[in-house]
Amino acid sequence: MEEALSRIERLAEESDELGRQDIMASLHKLAYSLERPENTRDRYGFLQLQTAIIKVDFDLGLFKKLTKSARALSVDEIAQETGAQRELMVRILRHLSAFNAVDEVRKETYIANQVTKNLAQTSTEAGICHWFGTASPQFQNIPVLLQKNGYTNPVDETHTAFHEAWDTSLSPFAWFENQPLLLNYFNQYMATRTRTEQSWLQFYPVLEEVADCPPTRPVYVNIGGGVGHQCAQFKAMYTELPGRVILQDLPHSIAQALPTPGVENMIHDFFEPQPIKGAKIYYLRAVLHDHPSHKVSQIIRHIRDVMAPDSRLLVDEMILPETRVNAVASSVDMSMLAAFASMERTEAQWRGTFHREGLDLVKTYMYNPLTYEGVLDVRLSPGV
Ligand SMILES: C[S@@+](CC[C@H](N)C(=O)[O-])C[C@H]1O[C@@H](n2cnc3c(N)ncnc32)[C@H](O)[C@@H]1O
Repeated sequence: MEEALSRIERLAEESDELGRQDIMASLHKLAYSLERPENTRDRYGFLQLQTAIIKVDFDLGLFKKLTKSARALSVDEIAQETGAQRELMVRILRHLSAFNAVDEVRKETYIANQVTKNLAQTSTEAGICHWFGTASPQFQNIPVLLQKNGYTNPVDETHTAFHEAWDTSLSPFAWFENQPLLLNYFNQYMATRTRTEQSWLQFYPVLEEVADCPPTRPVYVNIGGGVGHQCAQFKAMYTELPGRVILQDLPHSIAQALPTPGVENMIHDFFEPQPIKGAKIYYLRAVLHDHPSHKVSQIIRHIRDVMAPDSRLLVDEMILPETRVNAVASSVDMSMLAAFASMERTEAQWRGTFHREGLDLVKTYMYNPLTYEGVLDVRLSPGV
């Protein structure tokens, strides 16, 4: 067994990212195939408890403290550092160690392992806190929602598992306005969920496309751009590029927008007519997947109506393969169902969506094949 595990470890070290993920998937599959019914019951049954305990430890700063320490820490030291009661910490650390989030080196003494170090990253904390705080109550309500709607694919964005969970008639983004803590996790998660080197900017021929853009013309309009991380990236990468760079979002995001020199921050609701006419690039990332098809059509119609013949509509989204979708992508798809009655789409589904509104998908740039992320280059159909 030890020998087999060492060989797999070496194989993982020598593998590229795809190979590493394949190894993880194979090991999980093997472990699950060995389960007896009680193992499967316990694995699923206690799934949410692990996240709850991890959230407690984010609040206590435990993972960062363990990661910072070069040596193992006793429960007494941990209790003193976190301010939590010793008796409680004994139980929490025992639980964390039981599911390998920390390593127990001897009685009541713990050290950071790789999972602890991952949990100590601010980006990991923001993502887990978003899924736990905002999304998880919605997941709990998926069964009720689907039972009520007769097990049909949800398309009514005004009544989703989100509305069941939070007992509100507001849309998720309007609701966020009064949830500063949860909104902050969400914004941080959106900003850090992908590495900057894996972005459309590394793949799309921006300079070629915008070469002749006059300084007064809007060159890049980021619609639903959050607090402006991508506008900042665009500006940093194309410092000398002439043309206006504009961030658009709802008032609560614009209120927190980054003060990037050269970026105009503008309040705009994308269900209203687009005020910036004839821009070179209209760009939306992770926006359209938040909406069911009839709402996506409304959003892109407003953009289509102001596009110049040489404008580009760039849609940066997950593009699902037709078969064998991975667990993360299908989980995101299900969370879209829960929150918005929306979905992740295949390239054929995207193409059809644009085509119905007089737009053509001319090229797809997959910039992260492992996560299926790509940018769809969409243009006015000839004759529109
Ligand atoms: C999933 S986030 C994506 C943010 C950003 N594009 C990114 O990829 O990091 C969706 C964004 O759409 C914005 N949004 C939602 N409804 C909107 C509306 N009606 N008009 C403008 N922005 C909206 C939200 O405030 C949020 O910033």
